[in-house]
Amino acid sequence: MTAGLEGSPPGLSRRRFLESLGGMGGSALLLGGMSALGLGIESATAGPPALSGGGGRKIVILGAGVAGLTAAYELSRAGYDVTVLEARSFAGGRCQTARKGFTLTELGGETQTCDFDDGHYINHGPWRIPYHHHSTLHYTKEFNIPLEVFVNDNDASYVMYGKGKGPLAGKPLRKGQVAADIRGGAAEVLAKSVKQGALDQSMSAEDRERFLAYLVNEGYLDSDLAYRGTDGRGYDVLPGAGVSPGPGKASTPYAFQDVLNSGAWKTVRSVAGFEQQRTMFQPVGGMDQIAKGFEAKVGNLIRYSTVVKTLRQSDKGVEITYAGPDGQTGKLKADYCLCTIPLSVLRQMDIQASKPFKAAIGAVSYALVGKIGLQMKRRFWEEDHSIYGGHVYFDDPEILTMTLPSTGWQGRKGVIQGYYQFGAQAAKVSALSPAERQALASRAGDRVFPGYSDNIESSFSAAWHRIEHNLGGWAQWSDEARVSAYPVLCEPDGRLYLAGEHLSYLTGWQAGGIESAWQQITKLHARIQAEGGKA
Ligand code: ALA
Repeated sequence: MTAGLEGSPPGLSRRRFLESLGGMGGSALLLGGMSALGLGIESATAGPPALSGGGGRKIVILGAGVAGLTAAYELSRAGYDVTVLEARSFAGGRCQTARKGFTLTELGGETQTCDFDDGHYINHGPWRIPYHHHSTLHYTKEFNIPLEVFVNDNDASYVMYGKGKGPLAGKPLRKGQVAADIRGGAAEVLAKSVKQGALDQSMSAEDRERFLAYLVNEGYLDSDLAYRGTDGRGYDVLPGAGVSPGPGKASTPYAFQDVLNSGAWKTVRSVAGFEQQRTMFQPVGGMDQIAKGFEAKVGNLIRYSTVVKTLRQSDKGVEITYAGPDGQTGKLKADYCLCTIPLSVLRQMDIQASKPFKAAIGAVSYALVGKIGLQMKRRFWEEDHSIYGGHVYFDDPEILTMTLPSTGWQGRKGVIQGYYQFGAQAAKVSALSPAERQALASRAGDRVFPGYSDNIESSFSAAWHRIEHNLGGWAQWSDEARVSAYPVLCEPDGRLYLAGEHLSYLTGWQAGGIESAWQQITKLHARIQAEGGKA
């Protein structure tokens, strides 16, 4: 885990720091910052606990999201009698994929029905898997869910920074060209200063030579220490066959001052954090393949469209009342309850728990997050711009990133993720109608790709803070609540155990849900074994 607040300017709270990162450099930069702040870390556990001897003890699991499904799968395999109550008509929780026929009605909003062509989809919830999320990758392997690479960075893609100054502001710039020129320009300035003696006092002559060699290498500097471009930034005339030998005309670098003024350099380290890599993974066909993998194993244990109303407990067991699919109230008794309902929802429910436990449930805030998928009738980003996946970065916080699909290469159509915003901007955009959200995304797209809006066939948007049963994208713990409330919720309150991404240091990731479930069922199992196992 990358600890501490090294990257945070003094005087800024973590949240303010994260917001400022989001404003400056797009979501990937923001998420990189999350990692730097210790809000996201490597998943720590490689495999599920090996449990056995459940002896038919009854466990009720509330919520068939990834945490609930994990617990149901592992506990039922260990011999427990598991029932899962799920408010939705399908399993997966936030692990959702919108494809043809998928409907969503946000609180107070219109009903959207996804109208993408068959085979096209948007992962409006989780959408990428780091290589070090061993727990998520454990189940994709166990359930034979094919993965493909999620292109999380692409030098050929654009940076569209309109707020900077100078001739490059507001122009789509290839990210790799910005990176080459800012590195080359900075290396040139530094190398020349070293040559002029700026570091003579602080470095030995030998170290200065080594440092100069590094700068020449880093910035592709010529022998006179000038940066004049590099073929890594591409060609104005591409090399190829024919009678004229050699490469085509190398591209001309941007002036260093212009790149500096544009602010576009802020995206250069967008995926440099631990949490985000240049290539990640996604399940072939949509993230919900993970939910379906679990469902194939434990779907028979799930009671769908069943909304929990109350939880009562005694030293003998727990009792849940719920509204079933027919609207009728029902009751379920069990020995123990594992509740994976997001704390944003749980805090409003009638549950019997101790005062400190309830206070802790109320101590966390949830992320405001919005995404939109836009089905395009033609893959113009590939055909006209040679961009295969990756993000287009905006300094407009209402868009932040536009993401080009990492699937269906060279096919006829494709679904672009048109924006991904957070916090206040997500709140603002979520107040718009689906049609207005599409219009916002299409205006931004037209600035980068001429004819973008003409290519949009249909859209599907989600604002997680307005989605019933979630009321937020993921848990956001303050430093204080991590110390005071989080440990309280990691322990059971009587016969009630909690699990979910909110009870991990992997908030906002499926791995958090899975590993939290592993941790809590290990504790529950140990307690039941100590009690003598059998019902
Ligand atoms: N884990 C989430 C993402 O990858 C926040 O965007």
